[in-house]
Amino acid sequence: MGRSKFATAVALAFCATLLVMLPEVSAKRYIVGGNMGWTSNYNYTLWAGNQTFYLGDWLFFVYDRNQNDILEVNKTNYETCNAEHPVHNYTTGVGRDVVELNVTHDRYFISSKGSCYGGMKLHVHLTPIPPPPRAAPAKSYSSTISVLRTQLVIPAVFTIAAIWDSLLLHV
Ligand SMILES: *[C@@H]1O[C@H](CO)[C@@H](O)[C@H](O)[C@H]1NC(C)=O
Ligand SMILES: *[C@@H]1O[C@H](CO)[C@@H](O)[C@H](O)[C@H]1NC(C)=O
Ligand SMILES: *[C@@H]1O[C@H](CO)[C@@H](O)[C@H](O)[C@H]1NC(C)=O
Ligand SMILES: *[C@@H]1O[C@H](CO)[C@@H](O)[C@H](O)[C@H]1NC(C)=O
Ligand SMILES: *[C@@H]1O[C@H](CO)[C@@H](O)[C@H](O)[C@H]1NC(C)=O
Repeated sequence: MGRSKFATAVALAFCATLLVMLPEVSAKRYIVGGNMGWTSNYNYTLWAGNQTFYLGDWLFFVYDRNQNDILEVNKTNYETCNAEHPVHNYTTGVGRDVVELNVTHDRYFISSKGSCYGGMKLHVHLTPIPPPPRAAPAKSYSSTISVLRTQLVIPAVFTIAAIWDSLLLHV
């Protein structure tokens, strides 16, 4: 084994370690409603009840931009489906909107297009103080998220490995 090949092997081993460690520390990105996305005639109270949200996680709203939108409202307006005076309008117009759960208080999201009354409203309550190693929560997170994370992390690791490799080969 040549010197640079050995260095490459070390680099790859390091990246493999990184790959194993990353999911433990990274925030999760939840696709709201899972495979259903953000749509009418779906009960997001039931969906949210199956998730465990922590500070730093992300909500990803996927929907038909011609049919829906995503507004953050206060508790009162969530209960009454009042879209006037939203706390924040997350609608960007492409049907893919991201919300960072970067504050600990409860969050309330609704669609202003009339479907709120049918259940198109989401209340997010954060679980305080995640256990140090983010070990197996009682409710397992959806496989979609694991797949997404893998899709993001693996290319990233291979990019790092490739850059590293090219640097080492030119020493
Ligand atoms: C909640 O999780 C249970 C068990 O995995 C599943 O059967 C049920 O369909 C889930 N409910 C929703 C709304 O995702
Ligand atoms: C929510 O906002 C409305 C104004 O849109 C206000 O009248 C109401 O008091 C607020 N409720 C809470 C709980 O802050
Ligand atoms: C939210 O923002 C989008 C994009 O700027 C805009 O088209 C829409 O009218 C806004 N909705 C509300 C209820 O303010
Ligand atoms: C949370 O994130 C939003 C943007 O996503 C930002 O406007 C806001 O200032 C952040 N709040 C805190 C407390 O970091
Ligand atoms: C959604 O499910 C919850 C829990 O079972 C229930 O309390 C609520 O009324 C449902 N919402 C709608 C709009 O059906």
